[in-house]
Order: sequence, then structure tokens, then C-alpha cells
Amino acid sequence: MGRDIGCSRCAASPCATTRRADWASAAGADVVKCPARSGGVDFFWVALAPSHGMLPMDALPGYEIACPERPGHIGNGPGAEVPGRRSQAARVNWAVNNRRQLLRQVWEALEAGTRRLDHPFRTAALATAGDTHPHIRTVILREVLPDRRLLVCHTDLRSPKAAQIRRLSGVQWHFYHPAERVQILASARARLRHLDEAALAAWRQTPLPSRMSYLTRHAPGTVLRRPADAWPPSLHGREPDRDLTEPGHQHFALLECTVHTLEFLRLDREAHRRVRFVWSGKGWKSEWLTP
Ligand SMILES: Cc1cc2nc3c(=O)[nH]c(=O)nc-3n(C[C@H](O)[C@H](O)[C@H](O)COP(=O)(O)O)c2cc1C
Repeated sequence: MGRDIGCSRCAASPCATTRRADWASAAGADVVKCPARSGGVDFFWVALAPSHGMLPMDALPGYEIACPERPGHIGNGPGAEVPGRRSQAARVNWAVNNRRQLLRQVWEALEAGTRRLDHPFRTAALATAGDTHPHIRTVILREVLPDRRLLVCHTDLRSPKAAQIRRLSGVQWHFYHPAERVQILASARARLRHLDEAALAAWRQTPLPSRMSYLTRHAPGTVLRRPADAWPPSLHGREPDRDLTEPGHQHFALLECTVHTLEFLRLDREAHRRVRFVWSGKGWKSEWLTP
């Protein structure tokens, strides 16, 4: 109530609809679609700013705003949340002696990583097995489904990691929370999903700027003469729109990882904790380990 709102286009050229506080409060969300801009090519994300006056998108702290038509406009200040996924940032008590509770907290913390843009678990390390040594890289944790023991990220089907997973599906995820001094290792079997219902649903939700990564001419890691050679000349200088980016879905894959072992470690002067949880086929078995 009483909050002013702005959207990327409307901030530059204010429109009456987006100024209506009653519409904003009726929407009841922090990030909603701008009705004034629905139809046509696409919608615009609208941020409900907790202050007064129209704000340029960049000045809105605490929200991620993906505007399909103005790709540079992604604000992700402290406390930013993925649109549509509100979460409460609560401090977790990791010093518990109940392993079942600890396991629940581990999955909740991983889920928080998909909701909060500034959560350290959002940016994870994923290790795959190569012929002679492990390969490790940063990925964004996109989905966590504790009931199915799933951790999901997106990747390019042409990437070396996809080839490594096809050869050997064993992977390990690494998460570290520096403020809480918590490390989580998740060993899993990975499966690539490509052009099926789940992959296409995820593709449809992928912001247009992110889709550009899947339009490179060659596989990720291919040697280039100059950085600009990564994309076909026809894409140079173009703002991504739906038609332009659609061919990228051929390279887009969901990487679904079914966790079989979780290891939790917290190093804290007052209460070190190290536990291994192993999926038995029916449930999680756990044991304390020497930190
Ligand atoms: C912040 C950040 C986030 C990334 N997220 C992803 C991701 O979600 N999926 C992905 O495939 N690559 C992601 N990358 C790129 C990979 O870390 C890596 O450089 C590239 O995929 C190489 O992987 P490869 O081992 O398959 O060659 C990200 C890189 C950074 C720096």
C-alpha cells in the first residue's frame, strides 16, 4: 500500500498504470509483471520499490529484475531474491546433536540457495571425473528437490562437462558458506535432460540475456582468435529477444543430479560437526565423523 512502482520502460517514460498503488498492493508480490506492457513482444518485470518515486531499475536494491527487452537491467543488491521465490533469511543453528534435524537443515539451506541471490550456496562448485584427473567448475544451483534428492543446474550440452558425465555419471557438488563456516559435499549420479518436457520448461523460464550463452557458434571451451568470434556475426550488437534466442534451446540441458551421499562439516570453535548421510535405498543413514 502506498508504494510507488517502476518498470524498466516506465521508469524512462512513466505510464499511468504502473503508478497505481492499488494495483501494486493487489498484486501482493514484490516482483510482478507490468500489465501495461503485457502483450506485444513480452512483459516487463516491475519492482515494487519500498520508497517513493519512480526509480531506475539499477537503483532498486534487494531485487533481481530480469527485463527481457533490456538485458542489462538486472539489479541484484544485497538480499535480492529470485522473482517469485520469496524466502526468509533465518540464522540456522548448526550446533545441533540431532542428525535428522541436521539433514533437514542441510536441505533447507540448499533450497535457500535457489531462492536468495546472495546466498553462498547459489554458486556451487561441480566436479566431474575426467580420464586422468577431476574437473571442477562453478555452476548456479537452479533447483533443489529434497524428496527426490535432486540438485539441478543448467548447462550447454556441447560442454566438456556434459561429455564427462556421459562417460561417468558420478559427480560431486561443493557448497561453502563462509559466514557460517559450513561446507556441504553432495555426491550424486548426474543425468542430462535435453529437449524433453522438463528441459523445455526450464528453457522457457531462462531470461533472454542468459539464453545468449547457448547461441555460441562452437562448444564452450573452443579456442577463439578474438572474443567477438564466439557468436555469429548476425548476433553482434543485437539485443536478445525471444525469436533471436530460441535456437539456443538445442544446446540447453538440465543437469539433474540424484544425491546418494551428503557430507556436512562445520568448523566452529564451540561445536565442530561432521556428519555423513548415505542414502540406503529406503532412507538416509547417518554417522558422525571426526572433523
Ligand atoms: C558465476 C558463474 C556461474 C556459472 N554457472 C554455470 C552454470 O550454471 N552452468 C554451466 O554449465 N556453466 C556455468 N559457468 C561456467 C562454468 O563454470 C565453466 O567455466 C564452463 O562451463 C566450463 O565447463 P566445462 O568444464 O564443461 O568446460 C559459470 C561460471 C561462473 C563464473
